Formats: sequence, structure tokens, C-alpha cells
Amino acid sequence: MKALVLAGGRGTRLRPLTHTAAKQLVPVANRPILFYVLDNLAQAGIKEVGIIVSPETQKAIREAVGDGGRWGFRAEYLFQEEPLGLAHAVKVARVFLGESPFVMYLGDNLIGSGIREYCEAFRAAKTDALILLKQVEDPTSFGVVELDGNGRVLSLVEKPKHPKSDLALVGIYFFSPKVHRAIEEIRPSWRGELEITDAIQRLVENHGEVAGYILKEWWIDTGKKDDLLAANTLVLDEWIARQIDGDIDSASQVMGRVVIGKESRVQASTVRGPVVIGERVVIRDSFIGPFTTIGNGSQIVHSVIEHSVILEGVLIENVDRLEDSLIGNGAKIFKDQATRQAYRLLLGDDSVVEL
Ligand code: G1P
Repeated sequence: MKALVLAGGRGTRLRPLTHTAAKQLVPVANRPILFYVLDNLAQAGIKEVGIIVSPETQKAIREAVGDGGRWGFRAEYLFQEEPLGLAHAVKVARVFLGESPFVMYLGDNLIGSGIREYCEAFRAAKTDALILLKQVEDPTSFGVVELDGNGRVLSLVEKPKHPKSDLALVGIYFFSPKVHRAIEEIRPSWRGELEITDAIQRLVENHGEVAGYILKEWWIDTGKKDDLLAANTLVLDEWIARQIDGDIDSASQVMGRVVIGKESRVQASTVRGPVVIGERVVIRDSFIGPFTTIGNGSQIVHSVIEHSVILEGVLIENVDRLEDSLIGNGAKIFKDQATRQAYRLLLGDDSVVEL
């Protein structure tokens, strides 16, 4: 089985954060989301991975992933000039995919488990497609699926105004080569995209067999700020073990599951896990509370931070309380004197905020 990973697009929903980066490379617990995707493919034993890139993401994705050797597979880059839809991406990958069955995995989707179990189910069931589903509160922003009592898919609609169920399509799909014919038969949707949802609906209409599995673990489509914070919280909560490689001075307390990277220093501060601190970070005179990630080279001075994602090279100084925030690379937040309040921010790369 081959894999097709989608790492193109413009990432408009995370702007301004993705003006300078690919949304798939935004880190969760200091690792790009895409790396969790690639881990899952490697664990499932997949050896050939096609990665769809766009003009906006191509350079950064190639630099981050390279030839795939780190994961034990071969990565091939496939260029999608414009974001014309998920089914269009499959068309772009047509030569790479050949007549192989494949898993298509959206590079900004994070799930709370591996995919091996689903790969095996797909191989065993020999259906034309296997799709993963998850109950969501607001199905209208996803592909929505209606199942019969035996888990067979009856219908699929992309972002319906009046959803027939609360089961959303997770961005991980298993296909037989039959999907290519279905893709040839569909037309662009109202948003001008060739929807994979429509292609699967076409498979169903043409008497193809499509199985739907409800995902057991959590799923987050990390496209927006709050989703990204939620993903960070889940990953810190479930997958982080204590590992201290930096220095902690005797005036500091570091409690619980905390990762501190090389050459980082914690001085006269309290860190309460789960927290991940990258390399070359300075934490001075501060409190870092649960569910916070701090990227490489950042400095936190005389501040309180909780439940936030701070990217790389950020300076935060004299901030009484920062929570529920996502701070882009190189941002600086500081103030002169103390006024007591909480700040909620979404800041892009290189922002400077003086409070
Ligand atoms: C895409 C699919 C949608 C699916 C979602 C999962 O949506 O079109 O069916 O539920 O990914 O992340 P988009 O991210 O293009 O809005």
C-alpha cells in the first residue's frame, strides 16, 4: 500500500501564522503536526509516500521532511499548482499511485492513535474505500456521512447546511484504485474544488463498497487557533514523559511531566507540567503552567503563561498572565509596569505587541 499525504494549500484559516510557513508544519508539543502523520504511516509499514505540496508550502515541507529516510520510507514530492480540492490532489498523484491501493492522509489532521488497525481492516475487508468517521458537535464544516446499521455508507455530503448525521469525515481515507474512475466522473463543487467526498459518494452510487469506521480515539483538524491549542493540550496530556536535558537552578521548581531541551535554562521559576520547553530557551522569574509549549530559542522573563503555544525565538517579558494563546515565531510581547489582566492573543510571525 502507498500513502498520499496532503501538505499543500494556503492555510488561510491560520493566518497570520501561516504567511511564512505551511500549516502542516505548525508544531504541536514542539513537533510539526505533519511529523505525527508521517510517524503513523511509518508504523503502518508504508514504504512509499507521495507528498502533495503547493507553491506556498513546497520549500518548507521539503526541508522538514527530506527524502523520508528518517521514517524509513521514500518520500516523493508531487506539485499541486493550485488548491483545487482533495480529489484534484489524487489526480496530481495519478502516476505515483499507479494501480496501488493507498491511504490518503491530510497533513493537518491529528488523531489519538496509529492507523495500523485501520490499514489491516481495509486489507481484510477488500472494499473499494474505507473511511474514518468521528462524531462532532457542528458537522456543517466537514464532510458528513450517513451509515446503515451495519456500518455501510449510504451517503456523503460535503459541508451540508442540514446534516443527516453528526458523523464527520476524518481526513484519513483508504482507497482501491477504483477511486480514480470515480474522480474522473465528478465536477467541481460550489467552492470550486474537486471534493473527495463527492468521489466517494460516486463510488457508493456506482455500487462500490465503502466501509465507515468510527474512530475510537480523539481527532483534531488543526486548521484553527482553538483546535491547535486543543491538539497541544491532548498531546501534552497523553504522550509526554518527563525528560530534562537543560539546567534548572536551585531557586526553581519543575513539577510533573516536563520536557526541557538542551541548553535551556530555568532560573528562579516554577514549571508545572505537562509542559514542553524546546532548546536554548530561557525561563527567568516566571511561572509556566500546564499545557504550554515553548519553542526553541524563546525567552520568558517575569511572566506567567498557561495553556498556550509559543513558537520559536519569542520574547515575553513582564506579562502578568498569558493564556489560551498562540504566538508566532519571533514575536515580542512586553510591558513596562504591572496592570493585572489576562490576555488572549493570536499573533503572526514577527509581530511585536507592547502592552
Ligand atoms: C476536508 C474535507 C472534509 C473533511 C475534512 C477533515 O475539509 O473536504 O470532508 O471532513 O477535510 O479535516 P477542508 O479542510 O477542505 O475544509
